Amino acid sequence: MILKVSIKDIAEIDLDEVMEIEEVAYPNHHWSRVSFENEISNKLATYRCALTPKGDMAGFYGFWQILEEAHITTIATHPDFRRQGVAKTLMFDIIDECYKKVYHP
Ligand SMILES: CC(C)(COP(=O)(O)OP(=O)(O)OC[C@H]1O[C@@H](n2cnc3c(N)ncnc32)[C@H](O)[C@@H]1OP(=O)(O)O)[C@@H](O)C(=O)NCCC(=O)NCCS
Repeated sequence: MILKVSIKDIAEIDLDEVMEIEEVAYPNHHWSRVSFENEISNKLATYRCALTPKGDMAGFYGFWQILEEAHITTIATHPDFRRQGVAKTLMFDIIDECYKKVYHP
């Protein structure tokens, strides 16, 4: 079953929710809250997240764009929402964001 999510910039969201997913997605080597704060203020970076219809955070991603190349720095889905197409939706959003930045910077 596909979970319909809406995508928002992480800057608009409470970082506690990001950290909750980060810590379970990467238990042994997760980023710190400060790392996320630094990344979000990096002008080359884009960080966005997926919200369920109820407003829960289902997942997030980040990428750096350098000229016409994008480097995905992270992507994770909350264990409760895995195998429901969330990461796939996030990947499509990465592609959309890249096009916007290259063609409508
Ligand atoms: C990897 C991860 C982001 C996938 O998230 P997700 O929302 O469950 O992925 P989707 O439901 O969009 O899956 C899309 C496709 O990816 C593949 N896939 C997803 N999880 C998979 C798994 N555990 N094993 C094999 N294939 C998988 C499948 O082809 C799937 O399509 P299907 O469900 O129709 O078979 C999630 O498991 C996660 O957060 N893992 C921990 C963090 C991580 O490893 N991040 C990636 C490395 S940076």
